[in-house]
Amino acid sequence: MDIIIRDDYEQMSKYAAEIIAGHIKAKPDCVLGLATGSTPINTYKELIKIHKQGLDFSRVRTFNLDEYLGVGPEPGKPYDLDQSYSRFMHEELLNHINIKKENIHIPDGRTKDPKKFCMWYEEEIKKSGGIDLQLLGIGGDGHWGFNEPGSSLGSRTAVVALTQQTLDDNYNAFYKNANIERSDMPHFAITMGIGTILDAKNILMIANGKKKADIIAKCLEGPITSQITSSAIQLHSGGITVVLDEDAASKLTNANRYRHIEKTKLQYGL
Ligand code: GLP
Repeated sequence: MDIIIRDDYEQMSKYAAEIIAGHIKAKPDCVLGLATGSTPINTYKELIKIHKQGLDFSRVRTFNLDEYLGVGPEPGKPYDLDQSYSRFMHEELLNHINIKKENIHIPDGRTKDPKKFCMWYEEEIKKSGGIDLQLLGIGGDGHWGFNEPGSSLGSRTAVVALTQQTLDDNYNAFYKNANIERSDMPHFAITMGIGTILDAKNILMIANGKKKADIIAKCLEGPITSQITSSAIQLHSGGITVVLDEDAASKLTNANRYRHIEKTKLQYGL
């Protein structure tokens, strides 16, 4: 596991975007797993910049981690009231790159049959050849996607209930600004499972800010537990890169060791 510590959010985002761009250059039809939240916003801005300098997304395929249940683009509904992750992804990244519509996969929050949809989503990921690089943030309670404390570490794409902490975090981050009543916020979501995420060939997790410091330390250096579903990162068998800013790294016991490893690898061209 490569744990990379950068000075601030801007540097963290640049580093993460370069990793994603590197994957696309090495495999132009690669399959990316994408994430939402405030953390990846600048990573996406950086990717858009790299795209403007020539990075081609025309063969890239994407699968998003999750979507709130009951929301999503709907004909006749005021666009401003659409607080879906689908809208977020289009505004923050997808509308600004040359990706093909048919290559974009975001869980359908308006599906009539969520169970069937989840099975279909899993199949589509498999049919694509599997996710080459999964981008991840981390929730305040340590979740990946919406895999809340207590979700099995082998879980697959499913409908889940959101915890109070996640509802509070996400209400303050997104819904409040859109003047949406707390009671109107969705309480359920479709999410890739932890097992689905662990199937990705490579994982790129990013986190910034002091408020992520405790949970990052627990996730990376604490015991593997279904109470912090992202701690499953310690079980992943492929390439893992974690990019943090100084604040998010501030509670890590072994931060200096990670800095040393990065330096040594650079020195020896590894
Ligand atoms: C939501 C998303 C997660 C994301 C988390 C953190 O719960 N489902 O995928 O990692 O928010 O959000 P933020 O980056 O805003 O802290």
